[in-house]
Amino acid sequence: MAAEMALVKPISISKLGNYPKPRIPQTKFFRISMSTTSSTPTTKSSSNKGPKKGIKESLLTPRFYTTDFDEMETLFNTDINKNLNEAEFEALLQEFKTDYNQTHFVRNKDFKEAADKIQGPMRQIFVEFLERSCTAEFSGFLLYKELGRRLKKTNPVVAEIFSLMSRDEARHAGFLNKGLSDFNLALDLGFLTKARKYTFFKPKFIFYATYLSEKIGYWRYITIYRHLKTNPEYQLYPIFKYFENWCQDENRHGDFFSALMKAQPQFLNDWKAKLWSRFFCLSVYVTMYLNDCQRSAFYEGIGLDAKEFDMHVIIETNRTTARIFPAVLDVENPEFKRKLDRMVEINTELLAIGDTDDSGFLKNLKRIPLIAALASELLAAYLMKPIDSGSVDLAEFETQLVY
Ligand SMILES: [Fe+2]
Ligand SMILES: [Fe+2]
Repeated sequence: MAAEMALVKPISISKLGNYPKPRIPQTKFFRISMSTTSSTPTTKSSSNKGPKKGIKESLLTPRFYTTDFDEMETLFNTDINKNLNEAEFEALLQEFKTDYNQTHFVRNKDFKEAADKIQGPMRQIFVEFLERSCTAEFSGFLLYKELGRRLKKTNPVVAEIFSLMSRDEARHAGFLNKGLSDFNLALDLGFLTKARKYTFFKPKFIFYATYLSEKIGYWRYITIYRHLKTNPEYQLYPIFKYFENWCQDENRHGDFFSALMKAQPQFLNDWKAKLWSRFFCLSVYVTMYLNDCQRSAFYEGIGLDAKEFDMHVIIETNRTTARIFPAVLDVENPEFKRKLDRMVEINTELLAIGDTDDSGFLKNLKRIPLIAALASELLAAYLMKPIDSGSVDLAEFETQLVY
């Protein structure tokens, strides 16, 4: 998992009765060094004497997810669900077992040297990029690890695929956290696991959200990789050189969720599925767009325009998603981008209120019309004429696959 989906309000796990917070998993694939010497508000020092702090929370912060694991077990019970194509999942499992990237994530001395050269405001921007990416990858690790554990008895093949995907996400998160060590920092992932709120999604929403998250992650990574390959003068830090193989992991994860959804046709074939598909597309695209426009300096630093980059990623992700979701947004309609840009303006005004010296009450009062305007733009974007899509068109799209 590599992208973020935050416009759905998180629910405190303590209010959810029997839905467990994933345990802190112990895995041989995941070793995070805490041997750091300095700290920022989002990190902790190696001595463990400093205060343990997590990443700074906001509406757009990458979230951790949990689900109804009992319902998941029912969905993947082959005695109940006859749509589960065991041969297809067995083939997917073999592919995950092949472990194409087993030896890919090996660091070299270039990392530290490059990090030392990144100074001034760009240094903090890079640290934030690494922190947020690491948190998003780690979020996938936690969810997949728990699904692998919980589905072991019901469906060992699907369970093992989840476990192998958690292996991949652990590698990704670990590699990013190693990157932070180049900046003398480390994210306290154990603390984050315990301290952060978990957003609860029913299984079908987990499918929509994680599918989109994986595919958008693929398009983000491959787009940055290709851009830096043709414009090497912006290659400020070697981590981007790893994105080509890395994004194939995300693509495989997305394909697995595609297979899972095909095995649950009730999540794809009615009017409710169409409404939810559009809702999740909108939520994922808007979250990314607002986040990235807030961080345009990072994209400028690597020679990209945040808005152009995001629109490219949104359009490509939407085209990919149209192969499986029963409906998608018409993101190529210029009106959609105009609405996104209007949301960026409103969001900028909202952030500016937070930076004033006004009292909390006054700030909230000033926020009300802006939140109403944002909600109205979101609703208008949601209600734009959608595009009917779906897996029935699979053969037609298959030739357009880009790897
Ligand atoms: Fe990942
Ligand atoms: Fe992934």
